[in-house]
Amino acid sequence: MIDGPELRGGVRRLARQLSSTYDDGLVVVVVLKGSLIFAADLVRALTIEPEVDFLAISSYAADSGRVRVLKDLDVDIAGRDVVLVEDLIDTGLKAAYLLGELGRREPASLQICTLLDRSGRRILPTPLRFVGFEIPDEFVIGYGLDYHGRYRNLELVAAAEPEVLDADPDAYVAQLYGG
Ligand code: IMP
Ligand code: MG
Repeated sequence: MIDGPELRGGVRRLARQLSSTYDDGLVVVVVLKGSLIFAADLVRALTIEPEVDFLAISSYAADSGRVRVLKDLDVDIAGRDVVLVEDLIDTGLKAAYLLGELGRREPASLQICTLLDRSGRRILPTPLRFVGFEIPDEFVIGYGLDYHGRYRNLELVAAAEPEVLDADPDAYVAQLYGG
């Protein structure tokens, strides 16, 4: 869906936008694990010096809707300009939880920078200040995004059918890794 050169171009564009918006300093909050690869490339492309911290939450169960913080920030974000780095905003439920959780800590500002936006599936309206790519309603893997813990290391974002992966987790591997 998005190859390596396109991804790098999108990341550079986002880094320019962040660097010019936050010339007074920035806390980059990396939401584990999906945004790891994106965030690593993004912060290295900034021309400002960010503080980088990590947050991990449990994936919400579709049935319960409950989420909890598994690894909290070390940094106190009160009074700071904060950008939440996300891999993909889909329904917006996770983003809403994170914005609520971090918003209570009274940052000076709080915005989302997401690599991918699948807005066609949105349930909760989600203000997205920085967006890399708008994608269609297809499941995707690669560049941090996983299916059952695999494929995060791919240097591209690829559409993949979960049903095909369930039947054979290696179904796409040869083509994805150029084998
Ligand atoms: P939301 O709360 O529905 O917006 O969930 C977004 C989160 O679900 C992302 O941060 C991903 O971790 C995960 N996710 C949603 N769609 C995909 C996908 O197509 N591939 C891999 N992970 C996904
Ligand atoms: Mg995942």
